[in-house]
Amino acid sequence: MENPLDYDLADFFFNESPNILTPPPYFNTWVNDPGISATLSFFEQPLLSAPSAVTRICSNLDGQKRRVINLTSYNYLGLSTHPEVLKACSLGLKEYGMGASGAPVLSGTFDLHVKLAKMLSHFKQKDDTVLYSSGFGGNLGAIQGLVRKGDLLVMDNKIHRSLIDGGTLSGAKMVFFAHNDMQHLNEILEKNKHKRILVIVEGVYSMDGDLVKLPELIEVTDQYPNVSIYLDDAHSTLMFGKYGRGIAEHFNLEHKIGISFGTLSKSFGGLGGFVSANKETIQYLKCYSSPYAFSCSLPPCIVAGLIKALEVATRDSTLRDKMWENTRYFKNELVQMGLNIGETESQIIPIIIGSSRELLYEMATKMQLAGLLLQPVVFPAVPHESLRFRISMTAQITKDEMDEALNIIQDVVAKKLAEKIHY
Ligand SMILES: Cc1ncc(COP(=O)(O)O)c(C=O)c1O
Repeated sequence: MENPLDYDLADFFFNESPNILTPPPYFNTWVNDPGISATLSFFEQPLLSAPSAVTRICSNLDGQKRRVINLTSYNYLGLSTHPEVLKACSLGLKEYGMGASGAPVLSGTFDLHVKLAKMLSHFKQKDDTVLYSSGFGGNLGAIQGLVRKGDLLVMDNKIHRSLIDGGTLSGAKMVFFAHNDMQHLNEILEKNKHKRILVIVEGVYSMDGDLVKLPELIEVTDQYPNVSIYLDDAHSTLMFGKYGRGIAEHFNLEHKIGISFGTLSKSFGGLGGFVSANKETIQYLKCYSSPYAFSCSLPPCIVAGLIKALEVATRDSTLRDKMWENTRYFKNELVQMGLNIGETESQIIPIIIGSSRELLYEMATKMQLAGLLLQPVVFPAVPHESLRFRISMTAQITKDEMDEALNIIQDVVAKKLAEKIHY
């Protein structure tokens, strides 16, 4: 291995060593190389307080505890520490204890789960909802529970891993269309029009912050009677639409979405996933979805917090408006600095650096030491040529904190990139 920095995680997936518990040749050399271990040290840095706009971390870079502006957590509305949510959680904790101690079909369904599922169904304007103990498990479980061998899954090539893993588990064939390319989608559907097909898209794509072209997509799918749409609204629920119901509401197309997925870990500030659809689909899904039927339910105290979080986020648009105001301000400032923020249309704002991993990690290190937590995003999560930082904006951050973060980005990122162009 001449230069370990020429390799990445994608190079060690396949393993031909004789024993499963022996990693592939060179993996250990690679992972222990000082240059690589320095880059891997950005993973799993312990937070010492809530995932708020300002938090504290124990840095893996130098072992120091420090205050940081945190633009990495998905706590878009700040609900994870909202006082009303915390109060509901602690009342739930007192009444119900820490865990559910059972799968939903046996002893794991509490009155709180029933209430939250009802509220989410009403919110998403669907008949019924199934709750999962993680968003990942929700996507995995919904696809595995509904889709069968012989079916076809047609997926945008930027969708989340949980959906692909669900597809693998289902045994159905998976075909990917170029990101948001409706002509390509149409070609695939036309070739397979006699099959049962589920088209899977996200409302907001998590690496670029761009939106699904839903009106154009529905113009295509409407031509094929056997095609249904699965919408992963993980990053758009409580963010988009007049009432925060997500991307389908934003485009006024909720009635066209067969099955709607959301996570409770991002804008809701808690944990879990949910899938909403018509009554028959949900009833069938509950019978065959393994992560639902064979896994412990969400802790009731978390569900108590989630019920309050939904109430707080939907009683008016204050938090959402604030999040958008902050997003507009921050994006505008980044563009003024001459930074490339791609095609984002949402609260997820990439800062695209280019193809140099060394430069990306150097900047990430400097920013963190200066007090800004922004995680580097590298291949295979994003293409080799567009390595980046990814900002998750939040309603919780103040103007002063945004300016503090912007000053660090200006000093560390914008100046360096400007120098590179200059020379
Ligand atoms: C688009 C998308 N779907 C699903 C998930 C999984 O959600 P969770 O983290 O709540 O398990 C994520 C998580 O990042 C995601 O980005």
